[in-house]
Amino acid sequence: MKPFRIRNIEINPPLILSPMAGVTDYTFRRLIKRRGGVGLVVSEFISVEGLTRSNPKSWRQMKFDEFERPIAIQIFGAQPERMAMAAEMVEEAGADIVDINCGCPAPKVVKHGGGSALLRDLPRLEQILKAVKKAISIPLTLKMRIGYSDNEINAVEVAKLAQDCGVEHIAVHGRTREQGYKGLANWDVIRQVKEAVSIPVSGNGDITTIEYGLRKWRESGVDGILIGRGAMQNPWIFRQFQDVLEGRTPYQPSLEEKKKVLLEFFEMLREEMPEFAALGKMKQLAGQFTKGLVGGAQFRQKLYHSQSAQEILDNITIYFETISKEKTYGDGLIEADPELEITSCDAFSMEAACEA
Ligand SMILES: Cc1cc2nc3c(=O)[nH]c(=O)nc-3n(C[C@H](O)[C@H](O)[C@H](O)COP(=O)(O)O)c2cc1C
Repeated sequence: MKPFRIRNIEINPPLILSPMAGVTDYTFRRLIKRRGGVGLVVSEFISVEGLTRSNPKSWRQMKFDEFERPIAIQIFGAQPERMAMAAEMVEEAGADIVDINCGCPAPKVVKHGGGSALLRDLPRLEQILKAVKKAISIPLTLKMRIGYSDNEINAVEVAKLAQDCGVEHIAVHGRTREQGYKGLANWDVIRQVKEAVSIPVSGNGDITTIEYGLRKWRESGVDGILIGRGAMQNPWIFRQFQDVLEGRTPYQPSLEEKKKVLLEFFEMLREEMPEFAALGKMKQLAGQFTKGLVGGAQFRQKLYHSQSAQEILDNITIYFETISKEKTYGDGLIEADPELEITSCDAFSMEAACEA
């Protein structure tokens, strides 16, 4: 795997933080970016209805830091004129890339013709892509699923259409809309997309280990890899992946460093939002992050029931002190469960994302 370009933007290493509504916000993206190894970050999806009607929440979701570059801002919607207006706003906000969501399976999005509903309405998708392309001068990219259902797998057709409309990178999540997050991503269809178009294609779905990522890359021949849920479990996954790509032993964070990252995240959250909201986000990340650690389930129980910032901090300190001294925490069992449990862009902030 080697770096690739989206027009003049180098994606180096060719590893992308996959967009996740309610997760890949300003705080989380910077947390991951600071760990290293990320070639491109993508915002949460942002409603074009919210953006073009000046919803403050949608505007806040566009906030990013210079340090995050290159950054793509993802928008979702169904009306070509609104999509074009929103894309212009994204460019004005200084993003490097406009990304269109063509994969969200959430009923609230699909009902209005956006997200994965576009996979079933190619004339509308074509209108959207042409209108957006005309409105912006920065690169336009697309993130899609492989089709709406098992009987409607049309990723290759969609990719060719996108390429003809001037899209400059396609990210393919190897599941159908109907599949939701069940089963495994179909990387064979991702390979077919890669072979069908000449623009760069990145693959996505279920990468939580470097071994699996490398295997899927080899089998599919994609230019880049997107990692979503795996980054919540292991914020160092990009750095470790990069290490292997560049012939080094993958970096292994110490327990102390894992603790520090949780505390760093909490501090960043508290700078950005009220304590109550920060507590929720903290529980969300800690829940994923402690999977596979000794006594992780018991630690999560404690966190879920924490009512204040101080209680969270105390629980983190006690937990890491206990396990670093190899004392028993909870029932002392190591959870053998590396499963990606969080499913869907419905999971956290669909309410917020669909406002307006
Ligand atoms: C909580 C959550 C929110 C998501 N939100 C978005 C989104 O806003 N835009 C998008 O294109 N995909 C979204 N996705 C899909 C992910 O980007 C990715 O395609 C999917 O999780 C598969 O990759 P993974 O197995 O590495 O997680 C979301 C996924 C999750 C779990």
